[in-house]
Amino acid sequence: MIPAETLTGRRVRLRRWRETDVDTLLQVVSESLDHLRPWMLWAVPPYDRAAATDFLTRAQAGWLEGESYAYAITVPGVTVGACGLERRIGPGALEIGYWLHPAHTGSGLATEAAAILVEQAFALPAVDRVQIWHDLANTTSAGVPRRLGFTEVARHTPPRNPPSPGEVGVDVVWELTAEENSRSGVLC
Ligand SMILES: CC(C)(COP(=O)(O)OP(=O)(O)OC[C@H]1O[C@@H](n2cnc3c(N)ncnc32)[C@H](O)[C@@H]1OP(=O)(O)O)[C@@H](O)C(=O)NCCC(=O)NCCS
Repeated sequence: MIPAETLTGRRVRLRRWRETDVDTLLQVVSESLDHLRPWMLWAVPPYDRAAATDFLTRAQAGWLEGESYAYAITVPGVTVGACGLERRIGPGALEIGYWLHPAHTGSGLATEAAAILVEQAFALPAVDRVQIWHDLANTTSAGVPRRLGFTEVARHTPPRNPPSPGEVGVDVVWELTAEENSRSGVLC
C-alpha cells in the first residue's frame, strides 16, 4: 500500500509531484530560493531546469521504490511549497519534511500539510511513529511539530547532513507515535 496521490485538507491540497511539473517547480523554487537557502542544502542558485528535472526524476523513483513520497502543497490555483514522507529513519517510521514559498508563510499551511501527512503515514501498514527533523537554529520549522503535539525526543551532533548556511549543526528530532496520535487526533 502506498500513500494517496492527492490528499485534501481544509485549506491545502497535496498533490504528487509529476515529471511534467518542471515549470511549476522551477517557478516556486526560484521565487523561494533566498528564503530556503539558509535551511536547505539543495537550495543553491542558480536553481535551473536541470535541477528541477533532477528533483522530479528522483521524486518519481522514490514513489516507485516506496522510499519517499513527495508532494506539492497547493491552495486553489497556486503551488505554495512542497512536503513529503520519507523512509530514512528506520523500520516502522516515516519522516516528514516541508517548505513554503515565503509569500505563503505565517498562516498555518505547513502545519496543515504536515497534519495531513501524519494521518496518511499512520494509515499505511506497519507505521508506528512519525518524526520531523530540523536544525536547532530553525525555530520556525520547530513550530510545526510543536503545534501538532509532537515531542522532542533527541538532539544529534554532528548532524546527519552537512549544515546549510543558517544552521548551527544540531539536529533536533521530534516524534509522534501512532498511539499518541490516536489519543489526540491531529486535526487537518
Ligand atoms: C518551515 C516553514 C515551512 C514554516 O513556515 P510557517 O509559515 O512558520 O508554518 P505554518 O505555515 O504552519 O504557519 C505557522 C504560523 O502561522 C500562524 N497561523 C495562522 N493561522 C494558523 C492556523 N490556522 N494554523 C496554524 N498556524 C496558524 C501560526 O501562529 C504561525 O505563526 P507564528 O510563527 O508567528 O507563531 C517555513 O518557514 C519555510 O519554508 N522555511 C524554509 C524551509 C525550511 O526551513 N523547511 C524546514 C526544514 S526542517
